Amino acid sequence: MANDVDALVSQLTLEEKAALVTGDGFWHTRAIERLGIPAITLADGPHGVRRQPPEQENGIGGSYPATCFPPAVGLASTWDADLVTRVGEALGEESNALDVQVLLGPGINIKRSPLCGRNFEYFSEDPLIAGSLGAALIRGIQSQGVGTSLKHYAANSQETDRFRVSAELDERTLREIYLAGFERAVKDASPATVMAAYNKINGVYATEDHWLLTEVLRDEWGFDGVVVSDWGAVNDRDAGVAAGLDLEMPESQAGPEAIVAAVRSGSLDETALDAAVRNVLRLVFDHAHLVADGSHALKVPDDMVNAHHELAKEAASRAAVLLKNEDDILPLNAGSRIAVIGEFARNPRYQGAGSSQIEPTRLDDALTGIRSMAAGVTFARGFTLDGSADAAELAHEAVAVASDAEVVVVFLGLPSAAESEGYDRERIDLPANQVALLAQVAQANPNVVVVLSNGSAVRISDWEGGARAILEGWLLGQAGGAAIADILFGVTNPSGRLAETIPVKLEDNSAFLDYPARGGRLEYGDGVFVGYRWYDARELPVDYPFGHGLSYTTFEYSGLSMSVDSEDADLAVHVSVTVTNTGSVTGREVVQVYVAAPSEHVRRPAKELRGFRVVTLEPGESQEVDLTLAYRDFAYFHPTLKRWHVESGPVEILVGASSRDIRETGSVELRVHEAVAPLDRQSSLAEWLRHPAGKQVIAGLVQQAAADNPEAAALFESEEMIAMMGSMPLRRIGRFPGIGLTDDMVDGLIAQANAAG
Ligand code: BGC
Repeated sequence: MANDVDALVSQLTLEEKAALVTGDGFWHTRAIERLGIPAITLADGPHGVRRQPPEQENGIGGSYPATCFPPAVGLASTWDADLVTRVGEALGEESNALDVQVLLGPGINIKRSPLCGRNFEYFSEDPLIAGSLGAALIRGIQSQGVGTSLKHYAANSQETDRFRVSAELDERTLREIYLAGFERAVKDASPATVMAAYNKINGVYATEDHWLLTEVLRDEWGFDGVVVSDWGAVNDRDAGVAAGLDLEMPESQAGPEAIVAAVRSGSLDETALDAAVRNVLRLVFDHAHLVADGSHALKVPDDMVNAHHELAKEAASRAAVLLKNEDDILPLNAGSRIAVIGEFARNPRYQGAGSSQIEPTRLDDALTGIRSMAAGVTFARGFTLDGSADAAELAHEAVAVASDAEVVVVFLGLPSAAESEGYDRERIDLPANQVALLAQVAQANPNVVVVLSNGSAVRISDWEGGARAILEGWLLGQAGGAAIADILFGVTNPSGRLAETIPVKLEDNSAFLDYPARGGRLEYGDGVFVGYRWYDARELPVDYPFGHGLSYTTFEYSGLSMSVDSEDADLAVHVSVTVTNTGSVTGREVVQVYVAAPSEHVRRPAKELRGFRVVTLEPGESQEVDLTLAYRDFAYFHPTLKRWHVESGPVEILVGASSRDIRETGSVELRVHEAVAPLDRQSSLAEWLRHPAGKQVIAGLVQQAAADNPEAAALFESEEMIAMMGSMPLRRIGRFPGIGLTDDMVDGLIAQANAAG
């Protein structure tokens, strides 16, 4: 294939090359019949296949029916890579049925603020969850031959002004938080394409960022697929080619013209264009055998519809998170008189708005599910989705059914216009009419269970006193209604865990003062302290912590043991813990492993999630859970060495059921060869004294000075003096009267220390 591609490149004219690296219409690559180059089709993604009929390809609406799986917010709450891979396989199968060769997903941007309008399409505030579940989805989709597009690369965590805004952040923050998930997904799952985001990073458009698209993505991480622009993300096409942006989508006239002109004028090297052409051709030929021959209608076959609906239900039932369950009010007794209140019970909100919107093959609502399981069920709307109908009358109806029931299930949530691609939310509160309704219902009957439908965290703290149980239903896809009914009655034991913190209030969030940015610059002043890393650092109370989720059973942790194997880059720390189901029903526990690795040099989070495992246990059953942590799990990105760095010393391993429910703690001593930052003219006395060879050089100086200038030597010997002078560059101390170190002498000492390393 490589040879064929090279041969083809040599036969293409400049105009054909420029055309090949730009789409054909909205969803296809360009065919060049003269040379037998076929076209392939790309489509959204990510939680279903949004293949549009040819006559509707230029609009956002209208697509062939396909299974709507839970969006990423739901999949993430399963913490279950195997399940996510199975969903991916199903997406790959449907892509093939609908003649789609590249499915545009997953989206793994970090949820920095709960306000981001696209959080429902993203996995987590934590890069391990985002990267590992993103990789799991890619593996599943690509196992069916279909390509994926890992998006939106990178730092695309705000929708406001998304086409222009510049994410302003330092390299350590980028590497540890905003790139880490992409790095993991690229290295572990080799997506066929990576989608370059709309925004700029530190003033440079992602689509023109050579460092991002070539140095980091290809040279460091080994990516060998196609970099595709987000739709309409190209600013200067020729600059994009030079930076490593292979394919512009959708079709544009300006793009190929700019490329041709730049090559002709000599400002763009044709070899850069050839590299992009080669990448696109490889993508096309790798997937061309999947292109349908046009003899069949594009349709997901009925047996696949059925099987995938079941899988969508399984995923949804593992995604819902039981936040609270006072006095075990859940599961419900099928014999009880149950009132169901809230329009979402019969008109589910199950996916978000924008390019990811799927036309489902079916749609389950929770009310039908509840009625199929219990006889005495009444219903009141409580509120309407379009604001029509009189609020007082709706509340009156709701209070009437609540008063007559033994237990009330109230469905609350965000209306679909509240969160969408393209804009951000302004607040995280539920609509005021819903909060008021809940208060009235709870007064009539205190046995209230709230089920939530929302794509990103909502404020719960101001109304949770009115609910004895809360089931966070996120957006659960087309089978979410049935999955919720199963959880309410205990047919399924809930096992979802929060992949994002639910704060007490928006003001507590790390991005509160920056977000959203309207002046073109989005400051990431919180640095690596995003999500639980922030709430922990500030010791802020949260409503429900990252990793939290209840079950109808209970689990106990015991016998944490750890051992360190190998050193340096091969560092391996084996962690093992026993988990026991101590309740009376089968349940799934998500065992979470956090690392607390303090540093002398940089401020680090109090703990970071570094591993997790899902175990299913029968009542009374125990299982040993093992996992191995590697060098990177203890590392931070050193701001001046510009590489991953581990410090020797003790680190803590924390194992628990959530970030704030740590059950077992242990400590291991790491011994690594620490790379040291080279000294230079600006290095401070403290840095000289921390540098292994620098320390010797200073000791030598002091010894020399002691003979003829004891006062100057004393400077280096008093601890107080060193504390005070520690931040002063040695070169400047050298200028002080009586010390007399010339620049040349300092340069000599620097060379001596750096050579000894
Ligand atoms: C979105 C992408 C999507 C593309 C194609 C863009 O506006 O940001 O996520 O894949 O459109 O619909």
